[in-house]
Amino acid sequence: MQNTIAVKQNTKIGEIKSQKLNESSNEREIKKKKIEEEKPPFETTTLWDFSRQSYGKKPKGNNKFQGVTPAFIIWNMLQRYTRPDDLVVDPMCGSGTTIDVCEEEGRKVIGYDINPQHPKVVKNDSRKIPLKDNSVDMVFIDSPYGDNVNYSNELADIGKISAEGPKFFEELEKVAGEIYRILKPGKVIGWLIGDQWVKKKFTPVGLKIYQMLIDNIKFEPVDLICVTRKNQSSNTRIWHYRAQKFNFFLRGFKYLILAKKPDSKVENSNSTTKVKWQRYK
Ligand SMILES: C[S@@+](CC[C@H](N)C(=O)[O-])C[C@H]1O[C@@H](n2cnc3c(N)ncnc32)[C@H](O)[C@@H]1O
Repeated sequence: MQNTIAVKQNTKIGEIKSQKLNESSNEREIKKKKIEEEKPPFETTTLWDFSRQSYGKKPKGNNKFQGVTPAFIIWNMLQRYTRPDDLVVDPMCGSGTTIDVCEEEGRKVIGYDINPQHPKVVKNDSRKIPLKDNSVDMVFIDSPYGDNVNYSNELADIGKISAEGPKFFEELEKVAGEIYRILKPGKVIGWLIGDQWVKKKFTPVGLKIYQMLIDNIKFEPVDLICVTRKNQSSNTRIWHYRAQKFNFFLRGFKYLILAKKPDSKVENSNSTTKVKWQRYK
């Protein structure tokens, strides 16, 4: 009799255990699916903050590559400024973040770099881009911010030039001119750039690049986004201590400059949706 009760109890325990196992493997499945389908938040303000470099199941770019772009920035730009099948170009594509994001979102994409770190990135100096005039729907670029990162041994690497002198901006102006040439009228460029504080000297690299794009290349301003900087090498106790002791600031954000190639036709004919803007003032 006691044996029968023990067997029944064991069977019950076994059932509960396998039920729990099933539940946890279901939960695991759901969690896995959620991660696979994860998309970054659609940003609606000018302050963008996302704690990880990538999202979803497939890595975007290589998060071990120094200077890799946070993938959610490119994802947000695609949602706002492109449609499926549009052509996106990244002239300094490094480890290929733009390529990976565009492919997952069904956009055509070409990525160039002087030192490719991804099988689909084509070697090219971005001061001359081998594409036709007015042929591209969106450009994203995350250029060097000065000579703070050693990207390669290539002589043509603009990351070898200090942002403290004019040459750095002159060379990036050539890149900007090429971007203007290949973009279709009315289409948008996103330029990710950080400022520099080196040896007690601050250089407002981002603002100087924005000014160059507007004044010299004749892009039109669209907006200016602050992207918080996460996981950078100076986010350590010793650097926070130095920032306090020697009275300087660690870089907390980068700029995402949004500008567009002018198109008077689009400006005049883009009034199909009537928005009562006074409501939003
Ligand atoms: C901030 S990284 C880009 C990171 C890239 N978006 C990614 O997610 O991996 C800047 C890149 O500019 C490239 N670069 C520097 N000078 C260049 C040039 N003249 N033409 C093309 N690429 C250049 C560097 O090789 C480096 O990969």
